[in-house]
Amino acid sequence: MSPVRELNVALGARSYPIWIGRGILHDAPHWRRAIRGRHVLVVSNTTVAPLYLEAVVAGLAGLQQASLVLPDGEQYKTLACCGEALEALAALKANRDACVIALGGGVIGDLAGFAAACWMRGIDFLQIPTSLLAQVDSSVGGKTGVNLPAGKNLVGAFHQPRAVVIDTDTLTTLPEREYRSGLAEVVKYGAIGDLAFFNWLEHRAEALAARDSDAVAEAIARSCLHKAGIVARDEREDGERALLNFGHTFGHALETASGYGRLLHGEAVAIGMRLAAQLSSDLGLAPGADADRLERLLRRIGLPVELPAGSDASALLQLMYLDKKNLSGHIRLILWRGIGAAEIVPDVADAAILHRLRSG
Ligand code: NAD
Ligand code: GLY
Repeated sequence: MSPVRELNVALGARSYPIWIGRGILHDAPHWRRAIRGRHVLVVSNTTVAPLYLEAVVAGLAGLQQASLVLPDGEQYKTLACCGEALEALAALKANRDACVIALGGGVIGDLAGFAAACWMRGIDFLQIPTSLLAQVDSSVGGKTGVNLPAGKNLVGAFHQPRAVVIDTDTLTTLPEREYRSGLAEVVKYGAIGDLAFFNWLEHRAEALAARDSDAVAEAIARSCLHKAGIVARDEREDGERALLNFGHTFGHALETASGYGRLLHGEAVAIGMRLAAQLSSDLGLAPGADADRLERLLRRIGLPVELPAGSDASALLQLMYLDKKNLSGHIRLILWRGIGAAEIVPDVADAAILHRLRSG
């Protein structure tokens, strides 16, 4: 066990800790403090459960507990699977002081968190994120939900966890592409609001790509600190929280155009951040040299930055019009004034976006 770092998401009576440490999963007394009642449902999937469920279940000895192991994949982030979690809570005879534990990546975290938001109009839940993306982004901030055939994350609730337990050792089993995809979200925090962190990432890029444990722990802690601060200042995304979508409007369009699963989320975001940075330069908002620095960092980490061959600029633009951030039919993008200085730009001309998409 390494020493545990503790951060705080400051939301008044709903404030909660983020505990980060190597092997913390095996230190149940540390994280069991966050569980208030006697009933616990652990939700995981067929990939993560064989690796880490036993340790969590052992840590819950003495409580009335059940486990639900769902199939692995975004296609199972559905109302039907959420219904299975609710049925499992019913079978457990869970009271209002029951707790749901989400053990897995962002898919399990979003789904299990939504089940906790729905059961008896909201019970406790604990996030134990095991993918890098979930550790630096989705487990913090209380966005929970599931997909509909009509679109991603269309059904959901803001429901904050009681605690986030990040065991950085779990990353040792994460597939390489998933790991690098998570690093895109780490770079995002430097890009949108922290030049010093961006400089540090440039300094430690190779160590991060090689999963050096100290570099990874530091990157996770600094990312969570950013996310916690933004969530504390703007829980419901009335303003600043939208900056977390830097690169995402392009990225979501790319994910949809290329078919879900072909490009991982972080890969699409990496390409999207490079496009957003270059569009900012096209519009005279930011120096081109900053876009070049971002592109170099992403490449060193092993992330893609080029649009996939054969991308159709007009089709991508149409997909960007479907983004949830848009208001009154205008594309609302997160651009930047340079590294560490992102801002919301409410009405970017189609011609400028098309030019950028066609320039690659
Ligand atoms: P994921 O949950 O599908 O995990 C990626 C893959 O890694 C899966 O196959 C998973 O089983 C596997 N995995 C996870 N941890 C592992 C480990 N330690 N060892 C081996 N394999 C492991 O995807 P993700 O990238 O973690 O999350 C994406 C989801 O998160 C999307 O549904 C997205 O909408 C959501 N999301 C939510 C928020 C939010 O704020 N709530 C933010 C960003 C993304
Ligand atoms: N990942 C975006 C958000 O939490 O707001």
